[in-house]
Amino acid sequence: MVVAKLMPMTDAFIPKNIIVTGGCGFIGSNFVHYVYNNHPDVHITVLDALTYAGNLENIKPILGDRVEFVHGNICDAQLLDELVPGHDAIVHYAAESHNDNSIANPEPFVKTNVEGTFRLLEAARKYDVRFHHISTDEVYGDLALDDPAKFTEETPYHPSSPYSSTKASSDMLVRAWHRTYGLRTTISNCSNNYGPYQHVEKFIPRQITNIIEGIRPKLYGDGLNVRDWIHTEDHSSAVWTILTTGRLGETYLIGANGERNNLTVLHDILRVMGQPEDAFDWVKDRPGHDRRYAIDSTKLQTELGWRPTHTDFESGLRQTVQWYIDNPQWWEPAKAATEAKYKAQGQ
Ligand code: NAD
Ligand code: TYD
Repeated sequence: MVVAKLMPMTDAFIPKNIIVTGGCGFIGSNFVHYVYNNHPDVHITVLDALTYAGNLENIKPILGDRVEFVHGNICDAQLLDELVPGHDAIVHYAAESHNDNSIANPEPFVKTNVEGTFRLLEAARKYDVRFHHISTDEVYGDLALDDPAKFTEETPYHPSSPYSSTKASSDMLVRAWHRTYGLRTTISNCSNNYGPYQHVEKFIPRQITNIIEGIRPKLYGDGLNVRDWIHTEDHSSAVWTILTTGRLGETYLIGANGERNNLTVLHDILRVMGQPEDAFDWVKDRPGHDRRYAIDSTKLQTELGWRPTHTDFESGLRQTVQWYIDNPQWWEPAKAATEAKYKAQGQ
């Protein structure tokens, strides 16, 4: 009788000492809290340049023995030479992340997203450190509203904006470093995140904080563009799952079946905040505005057993609205300048 040998589906990896780049931003800081709360054996070094999008307050309460902060730029090869040895993984969130900014001024996107990822990959290669790259579903371009398809790991890359094209470039570098140098890598491409600590330039926090300040929310174009919303805590649990049990060299798409058009989301926000449905302004559309994103996360769910827990969007949205109401000191300093920038763009 031939006994089939069961091959492990995944390469289990138990990190002890990780670097989280961009750990003072929205999603990176959520991941730092997630690991701090759920994996007490792990030491975290946050590397962050504290750009306009980074805020040390996001991780201040947990700084100490288990969470260390290093103020620095991922493009700084000398700093990486000092920092990376002794760590067993880099989880790479740092990026310029906002489409509208990339249209107004693409240069920092090329610098941080492409060169920064290159510098980190070189450091990871030199010191043989595992590398998990955080990317976005926007690398796949967009889908038509009536297309039954969703993005999968096999969808060809077709980025539209300076932001998504620099993220696509960084994904390609990661794939090449795995294939050519055998660097131990994984990549995740996630859909639109929402939750606390998101910068007021992004869609959901912009509208919530507009309403709090008595400014009318602003909707681009015809409002029918679709985004696939996921709570940022679900993104964090998915990244941890991929880092620890994902197969090397693989890409995993992260999503939670949260497709909604922008008009629907804005109506939800207005309702939750006790405003009339029509209390918003239509504004100029974003150039090159992607129509629809949608993620099929079957591979992540079937291969690694991950499941989202925040499956009720309205309840996640209520919690997010309450967080912005409770924490004006966190977002007020950035609000006026952000709105002035949008106003200058006709948005
Ligand atoms: P964010 O803009 O809120 O935070 C980015 C962080 O990176 C900030 O703390 C900033 O200070 C830091 N940073 C920027 N340039 C740096 C540099 N050169 N060196 C060191 N640190 C630098 O972004 P986010 O929304 O939290 O996104 C984090 C990651 O997740 C990005 O890679 C983004 O592409 C990806 N992503 C975001 C979404 C989303 O919905 N926001 C969805 C999918 C994937
Ligand atoms: P955004 O949060 O910028 O995320 P992304 O462009 O990466 O998906 O925008 C989400 C959607 O909301 C996008 O279709 C653009 C739209 N939008 C508005 O309608 N009004 C706004 O004020 C902003 C910032 C975005």
